[in-house]
Amino acid sequence: MKKILVTGGLGFIGSHTVVELLNDGYEVVIIDNLSNSKIEVLNNIVEITSKKPDFYQLDLRVKSEIKNFFDNNKVDGIIHFAAFKAVGESVEKPLEYYENNIGSLVYLLQEMRNRNIDNFIFSSSCTVYGQADELPITENAPVKPAESPYGNTKQIGEEIIKEACYANNLNAIALRYFNPIGAHDSIKIGELPLGVPQNLIPFVTQTAAGIREQLSIFGNDYPTADGTAIRDYIHVVDLAKAHIVSLQRLFDKKNKHPFEFFNIGTGTGSSVLEVVKSFEQVTSQKLNYKIVDRRSGDITAAYADTTLANKELNWKAQKTLDQALLSAWLWQQKNI
Ligand code: WQD
Repeated sequence: MKKILVTGGLGFIGSHTVVELLNDGYEVVIIDNLSNSKIEVLNNIVEITSKKPDFYQLDLRVKSEIKNFFDNNKVDGIIHFAAFKAVGESVEKPLEYYENNIGSLVYLLQEMRNRNIDNFIFSSSCTVYGQADELPITENAPVKPAESPYGNTKQIGEEIIKEACYANNLNAIALRYFNPIGAHDSIKIGELPLGVPQNLIPFVTQTAAGIREQLSIFGNDYPTADGTAIRDYIHVVDLAKAHIVSLQRLFDKKNKHPFEFFNIGTGTGSSVLEVVKSFEQVTSQKLNYKIVDRRSGDITAAYADTTLANKELNWKAQKTLDQALLSAWLWQQKNI
């Protein structure tokens, strides 16, 4: 049985990926420093899968902690989620973002090289494209100068991984996520934003739950049908499954280059107002919102061309926006 290290494995996407790995017969060991996740998620993973992954509360910024981990754990592959991911916060604290997101990545790759560990899956983001010139966005779209330190850590991270793969005979796949939303069908794991949510869907569900008074829609003067910005909202379980097929591609040595990257979205764009209307329909909850000024740094539209992932990974998003929004609402109701 192959053993997979999942860093950030108690986080939103990480925990859903751990569930899929366990369900697929992998052994899993999680490293998480609990800076943006809760230890209760581990029990919830056990409840869903009846399997208990090993867990280490470690800080990947501490080189000696990583070395000690690998001295005591032999793994066959790594899925690396652990990173700070708040765009706005990254503008206020760029050095902490580079230290955490880049420093820990370099330490992990050094350990992989030193111990001949292959097969690395990297959590990247469509943010690397900025506002793409053409929609839907393919993997041929140029990577544009990052609009935030967070986005820059994803771009730099991909470059570091690529160079490490070619220099050290490693194999890696970066998955460029569009907008992950929703919760597991069991409603035992989901998104747990700490503090005021930065992302749209947790703010929507918290407004519907009465935790937030009103949703502010950032701008309705974009050049789109209804004036609000468009994104590609993908169910987190579909996204988790993309990690499993990517890992298997590397184990089966079907990758065509030592470093590959894929756009992981649904291929469909939805405006903020369309999301709000869909949420109201699937939940029968009227949402209190107002239109305010645009949020600085936001782009007009981003949605994926998923042809390459469909073909090379034999993967396609299965769940709809409505299913994702309903699961997010059901999860929110458990976390009032
Ligand atoms: C979506 C849309 C907002 C909140 C970011 C990162 C990306 C990834 C996902 C980490 C936009 C609008 C939002 C609100 C609103 N992060 N909005 N009111 O900015 O597309 O992507 O999060 O992996 O890397 O860049 O996601 O959910 O913040 O915004 O109107 O209260 O909702 O303007 O159009 P975004 P988001």
